[in-house]
Amino acid sequence: MVLPEKMQAAMFAQHGSTEEIYLGETEVPDMGAEDVLIKVQAASLNGFDPMMLSGSTGLKTPMPMIPLGDCAGEVVAVGTAVTRWQPGQRVCPHPFVAGEGMTGETRRGVAAQYAVFPARNLLPIPDSVSFRQAACLPIAYGTAHRMMLTRGKIKSGERVLILGAGGGVGVCALELAKAAGCAVIATASAPWKLDKLQSIGADHVINTGTDDFEDGIRRLYGKPRMTGGGGVDVVVNYIGGDTWVKSLRCLTPNGRLLTCGATAGYNPVEDIRYLWTYELNVIGANGFTPADIEALLQMVDRGTLVPHIQQVGSLADVGLFINKLADRDVFGKLVIEPWRTPGQD
Ligand SMILES: NC(=O)c1ccc[n+]([C@@H]2O[C@H](COP(=O)([O-])OP(=O)(O)OC[C@H]3O[C@@H](n4cnc5c(N)ncnc54)[C@H](OP(=O)(O)O)[C@@H]3O)[C@@H](O)[C@H]2O)c1
Repeated sequence: MVLPEKMQAAMFAQHGSTEEIYLGETEVPDMGAEDVLIKVQAASLNGFDPMMLSGSTGLKTPMPMIPLGDCAGEVVAVGTAVTRWQPGQRVCPHPFVAGEGMTGETRRGVAAQYAVFPARNLLPIPDSVSFRQAACLPIAYGTAHRMMLTRGKIKSGERVLILGAGGGVGVCALELAKAAGCAVIATASAPWKLDKLQSIGADHVINTGTDDFEDGIRRLYGKPRMTGGGGVDVVVNYIGGDTWVKSLRCLTPNGRLLTCGATAGYNPVEDIRYLWTYELNVIGANGFTPADIEALLQMVDRGTLVPHIQQVGSLADVGLFINKLADRDVFGKLVIEPWRTPGQD
């Protein structure tokens, strides 16, 4: 088989605003003996994409950079040492590659027509799961799966407050908490997102654009008491910044604060009095394993999890979609189809 040499990709050559993003032709990445070449059928954006473009994470990206970390597609060719995969198979790669780091962060991303991954990173996509759905799962949904279940150990009957719940991680966290039998209080900064959060199962919603979420929790459940009662059992907080101490103040004794990120700032003011007085537990979650992605693919296959896709676009929409994330104008996930014609419905 003659392998493709060139492909279309969205790229940026220096950090900055979305004006740095251009669509162009570039080399198809080289494939080693243990690698697989994938025709990318769908890729999805994540909360880190605006940060990678601006350079605010401090991570070293290879330039010119191709953004985006999550994708799904078909195997086009396999390296000489690969026996597990064949051309035509539908696959979803785990985006973290040993020795190179996270795809879309320190490794060139998947906003491109082809991508190369080590064969060991690939997971098969069940027939009933679309490329679009599979491309939504690894980073945001995988992280939510690990944070809520493996690390957070959420249980039936618990009250779970999810901040910024309309994002990729938040929507999945909400669905997993409802599936586990928890009562979910979800926050968002716009009324249209609150309606959507209720439509996917949130028991209570708080508009953080107009209301203080700590006041909202006190109205619902009362002030946490050292003797027990009041507040919530779990707060999911990947926002950081000025939401951190407020989150501690929402937790009932022995409550858990789960975190996997800090969109609004990673070095917030701390008030450790709440940690000892209420014997609180701060639990971090980082990344996800292939087993998390596999479990999510099975849930979508069974119909017990539905990835929420707000919009699908072409490679020409990468900049627009990164701006939407930065402007907090997204509910769920945004998907790019690299073979789609710009403007196609
Ligand atoms: N450690 C890991 O392995 C890992 C993996 C994936 C994601 N993460 C982190 O998890 C977080 C969420 O990721 P995501 O993909 O779900 O992001 P997202 O889709 O952008 O969602 C984040 C939500 O946070 C809120 N938000 C955004 N900017 C904010 C700001 N400046 N101040 C307060 N709230 C803000 C928004 O909700 P409202 O506007 O409605 O409030 C938004 O819906 C990010 O920090 C990301 O880096 C970590």
